[in-house]
Amino acid sequence: MKVYIILPMFASAILTALYGIDDYAKRAGKMYFGTAANLPTGGAINDKYYMAHFNNTQNFGQTTATNVMKWIYAEPERGVFDFSLGDDFVRLAEANEYILRCHNLIWHEQYPGWIDTTDWTKNALLEVVRRRVKETITHYGDICYCWDVVNEAINDDGTYRQSIFYNVTGPEYITVAYKTAQRTIAELGLNVKLYYNDYNIEYPGTKATAVQEMIVKSLKKSNIQLDGVGLESHFIIGETPSMASQMQNMADFASLGVETAITELDVRALSLPLTQAQKTQQIIDYNNTISACAMSKSCIGTTLWDFDDTYSWIPSTYVGEGYATPWYQPGGANTPLKKKRGIYAALVNAFNRQIGTGK
Ligand code: XIL
Repeated sequence: MKVYIILPMFASAILTALYGIDDYAKRAGKMYFGTAANLPTGGAINDKYYMAHFNNTQNFGQTTATNVMKWIYAEPERGVFDFSLGDDFVRLAEANEYILRCHNLIWHEQYPGWIDTTDWTKNALLEVVRRRVKETITHYGDICYCWDVVNEAINDDGTYRQSIFYNVTGPEYITVAYKTAQRTIAELGLNVKLYYNDYNIEYPGTKATAVQEMIVKSLKKSNIQLDGVGLESHFIIGETPSMASQMQNMADFASLGVETAITELDVRALSLPLTQAQKTQQIIDYNNTISACAMSKSCIGTTLWDFDDTYSWIPSTYVGEGYATPWYQPGGANTPLKKKRGIYAALVNAFNRQIGTGK
């Protein structure tokens, strides 16, 4: 009699011990579940408790550098490239055989200072964009599953963002970046996907429509390669788009011939500490988001924008806000991590419900 009760309990305990989120994601047909990390910069590299979790290949099958592959690190002087920090990150990823999303090539933030202090002609700046794209893709080669070629080029109201790139070249910097990327991977015979990545495009609306028109359709119409759209998903507790609207949005992008991915997921509280009601809502928000990816054929995977509150970008960028990730360190940096059990279970369940559905 007892054995009938104990065996299933035993089996589920073993499953919990053996499987992590990435395992469940893969069983649900996704390519990966992953996390971004501010490595080797940012202090986390010296936190053995954090690193043990970063290296847990059951939970994670993919990673993204939150910072070190950005242009500001890679071309400190005009024409002088230095990929050493990015290479350090690649070594950390490769030790775990993690899939690498490479982030990013052209963005209006974290680009080298000399770009702001030079008086540009359009052609000169376009040449600098070309060289950044070509040198970087060439350097990393097939290590990257994909590149976020252009990041955050559209405003919330659907207009082009006024960056130095836009102000000097108009939208041409976008086409030039993708054309150069396409040519580089073709010349080198690389198997690297080209993405556009942005926020506030995780639900149907003005900005998502603008990205569909001004980026996706516009590149495709000119026969320029675009393989995927990254939905950043920096959400706020209680303001996270519903599962249905996220799924509709993924389908809208997919209908234009691109894959989708959730690239920078976190769900933050606007003030601390949280009420129990906010914690419950956060679990729902995580579940809705992961479920949307799990149930959408076009969504290949999800990446957390770090997995531990201690090293999340939220507290330093949005002062007073936080509690945005699935793990935390009750004792602070360099102490053991604790999972937020409700969020962790919500992630596992979101994938589990999809197993065997072929989605
Ligand atoms: C953030 C990093 O996490 C921070 O450490 C850094 O100070 C600023 O950039 N959208 C993006 C990411 O595409 O590159 C940003 O990362 C977060 C918003």
